Amino acid sequence: VSLGLRLNLLFASVLTLLLIAAGVLIVDRARDSVADEMDSAVRLTLQLLAAASGGLAETGQTAERDGLADGAAATAGTAAGLLARLARLRNVRHVDLALVPADGRLPFAPRDPSTATAPGAPAWFSRAVAPEPIEYRQRYGPPGRVVEIALRPNPADEIAEAWEESVSTFALLVAFAALAMILTSFTLHHAFKPIARIVTALGRLEQGDFAAARLRDFSLLELRPISTRFNRMIDAMALQREENRTLRGQALAIQEAERGHLARELHDELGQSISAIKALAVATRRNARALESSRRNAGTIAEVCDHVYDVVRRLMSELRPPMLDTLGLGASLEKLVEDWRRRHGDIDTRLTVDAALPTLPEDMAIKAYRIVQECLTNVARHAAATRIEIDVSTEPATGRLLLRIADNGNGFDPTAHRLGLGLLGIRERIASLDGSIDIASHPGAGTCVTVVLPLPADDEQATAPPVAPADLETV
Ligand SMILES: Nc1ncnc2c1ncn2[C@@H]1O[C@H](COP(=O)(O)OP(=O)(O)O)[C@@H](O)[C@H]1O
Ligand SMILES: [Mg+2]
Repeated sequence: VSLGLRLNLLFASVLTLLLIAAGVLIVDRARDSVADEMDSAVRLTLQLLAAASGGLAETGQTAERDGLADGAAATAGTAAGLLARLARLRNVRHVDLALVPADGRLPFAPRDPSTATAPGAPAWFSRAVAPEPIEYRQRYGPPGRVVEIALRPNPADEIAEAWEESVSTFALLVAFAALAMILTSFTLHHAFKPIARIVTALGRLEQGDFAAARLRDFSLLELRPISTRFNRMIDAMALQREENRTLRGQALAIQEAERGHLARELHDELGQSISAIKALAVATRRNARALESSRRNAGTIAEVCDHVYDVVRRLMSELRPPMLDTLGLGASLEKLVEDWRRRHGDIDTRLTVDAALPTLPEDMAIKAYRIVQECLTNVARHAAATRIEIDVSTEPATGRLLLRIADNGNGFDPTAHRLGLGLLGIRERIASLDGSIDIASHPGAGTCVTVVLPLPADDEQATAPPVAPADLETV
């Protein structure tokens, strides 16, 4: 669960608890206020009745004296009139009033608390706030002419009023709670935004896209150091990557230069010395005046010379692709594939070189050659393929050189693989030529390596400096 959601839930539960507590409190307050109201209504009614009781007694006496009627009946009649008038008073409205009949039966219909709902208020609220049903009985008048009046508080109206008040109070609280909730989740959402930005930036960093990984300054003061330091870290990493690239490029250049130097030394020094030795040996072998044993030894020396010369030639072609300088990339690749076929007769290897391939600068030619060479080595080592297609072509329209090496072997997952030194070297060479590489491969579906190298502009081509042995000293 996300921290944001957790905080939101926590806050929402606290608010809900608060609302529940407030609800309980509101109902409690409503009950008190209804009870108070009922109390005061009853008290007022009793006071009014007490004030009027003198009048009641008088009515009875007057009636008896006039012999008009039975005093008690007259009293009762007057009492009924009084009650009717009282019932119309505002504050007495909340009290049911009745004369208790002679048989003493309850004058009121029994009130069931569960059905005694106030108009507009729900039953549960009525039950919760209704006061205990009580009945008061009060006797008035002199002995013999006593009337008994019963009164019972009727809280229905009061409850309805309390319900309305409670609802509006509670609604106000709910509105505040909702507002607080919205503000909080809004604030939290904003507070967590930087995290999402950091995660995105880290993802880009992982892909090596340093420029896109940079963080905009965070507006929050507390987070500002994170963006600043993060960007500084990226700068440091970019610098280091650049240094690494330069170093690797230099290492490759040194390697090529050294190989070229060795090849030339082998050719110039060793090759010539061997030729000289062989010439002498051949001369001795042909010399009729030499001893037979000497002629035999000379023949052996000539054979050894041939062998050493073969070794030197092979070493030379391994160190320095033959004909690269003189006949160019196409011819060198033909030779490479020819040697390859000799060693891997079971693999059907096809090489197609664009006839319109221009003469490449030596640096570019040797890098392209090394790329094809490493791809072939990989096929031999890892692919278990039966077919290889090598295409070297140019796109005159875009001025690009295309190398495509496809095999039908095991394949591999280029994204899951850690680059080995071979592929790393390929990438390095391509990067130094501002080219690009695409490795399309799936386990079991073969591998197709496509390399695109921009061809240098014509004037550049002419002045491109060859990798000379002299570079060894300057690097
Ligand atoms: N043509 C290919 N077919 C199958 N797997 C390959 C091929 N080329 C490269 N690989 C895989 O990629 C890995 C890295 O290759 P590379 O960088 O040349 O290192 P190395 O050849 O020294 O192992 C290899 O170990 C191999 O698993
Ligand atoms: Mg390899």
